[in-house]
Amino acid sequence: MRGAPRTSAIAAVAAVAALTLAACGGNGGEPESGGSGGGGDEVEVFTWWAAGSEKAGLDALVGVFEQQHPDVTFVNGAVAGGAGSQAKDLLQTRLQAQDPPDTFQAHAGAELQDYIDAAQIESVTALYDEFGLTEAFPSDLVDRLTADDGEIYSVPSNIHRANVVWSNPQVLTDNGIDPAATYADLDAWMADLDKLKAAGVTPLAVAQAWTQVHLLETVLLADLGVEGYSGLWDGSTDWSGPEVTAALEDFEKLMGYTNTDRDGLDWPESQQLVIDGKAAFTVMGDWAEASYVEQGKKLGSDYTAFPVPGTDGVFDFLADSFTLPVGAPHPDGAKAWLETVGSAEGQEAFNKAKGSIPARTDVDMSTFGEYQQSAAESFKSDAIVSSLAHGAAVPVATLTAITDATSKFTSGASDLAGFQSELAAANAG
Ligand code: BGC
Repeated sequence: MRGAPRTSAIAAVAAVAALTLAACGGNGGEPESGGSGGGGDEVEVFTWWAAGSEKAGLDALVGVFEQQHPDVTFVNGAVAGGAGSQAKDLLQTRLQAQDPPDTFQAHAGAELQDYIDAAQIESVTALYDEFGLTEAFPSDLVDRLTADDGEIYSVPSNIHRANVVWSNPQVLTDNGIDPAATYADLDAWMADLDKLKAAGVTPLAVAQAWTQVHLLETVLLADLGVEGYSGLWDGSTDWSGPEVTAALEDFEKLMGYTNTDRDGLDWPESQQLVIDGKAAFTVMGDWAEASYVEQGKKLGSDYTAFPVPGTDGVFDFLADSFTLPVGAPHPDGAKAWLETVGSAEGQEAFNKAKGSIPARTDVDMSTFGEYQQSAAESFKSDAIVSSLAHGAAVPVATLTAITDATSKFTSGASDLAGFQSELAAANAG
């Protein structure tokens, strides 16, 4: 993906147009881009933010939408299942049956490219000009969102970090481990995981397959480093090589510290094991931050958050974004939603509730929580890599093949050599 230059003069004109559009309740006489009509009276928004802190984030965004577009009815098309584990299949069925929602959540990066290649979403480049978004987002992010044809196909709502360890300080203290300890690498961390295991405590909580892939990606990042990890996605790192074997051995060891009921849980439940003191650590994206805040927990005393050992100084990036599907029944409703998603007010309200940081650079971070302020600093100064489990690094089909291979391995149906060759095959295809 590459960037398309925009001028600030266009952006200034666009800002005026955006105000006009807002004043018209989102229906500002735009030519229709799909579907059977303007459809400015409602918008079906398809996400996987169906419950808990994720729904709280969506609700915050809807609150701003209802203020900015009181004439457009929000229809919640959320489908439960972390990381879109159920939603993405259902969405594909709907898209193939020519029954798209008015807008859907999709990750910036390779996942978005899938929908572009299948001609399932429309360019929203004109809306970037209209709403002044090109100047509002970091140019790196606009580059990641810009397809090879120079068009932009979605509006990002947020930026999440995937490579975060969350701990329960009380469990650590009770077991003679310094809760402020930092670990240079996975080996150093595993020395403390051994102590917890010996004491009969679950050292590391994990849940169903996608969370195991999430753990795997951070282990690959820790062991291969920024270049080696990024090379997995552009072919310059050999999936069959000894470095990957060593990382998979570390992944196998880490899985040995996890809860045995993992396959029946989703991320809120594995996170809750740590929150409730039933496990010491978990590796999860920073949507976890929102679950702590929702339960009134305090950073430092009730939980700690630090980069996965071996990944300090690296921001494992993903961004949620919203699209304009081809044939959306309410394209004007969708454009109104995209305007709110991209607006400073929408991004502030949503991200405060979601644990993520705004994609816009002009939102005042001083009113955000301590964790989010530190994430915003890291995003500015760290090396940025693309998340595997959350659509930034590989297309959906590759991620599905990696997830299947990971499930097979962690359930004992394949050995490490078989796992490695399945991973290599998934990335070769
Ligand atoms: C999404 C997040 C979401 C997480 C867990 C990720 O793929 O980008 O917004 O909170 O999945 O469901």
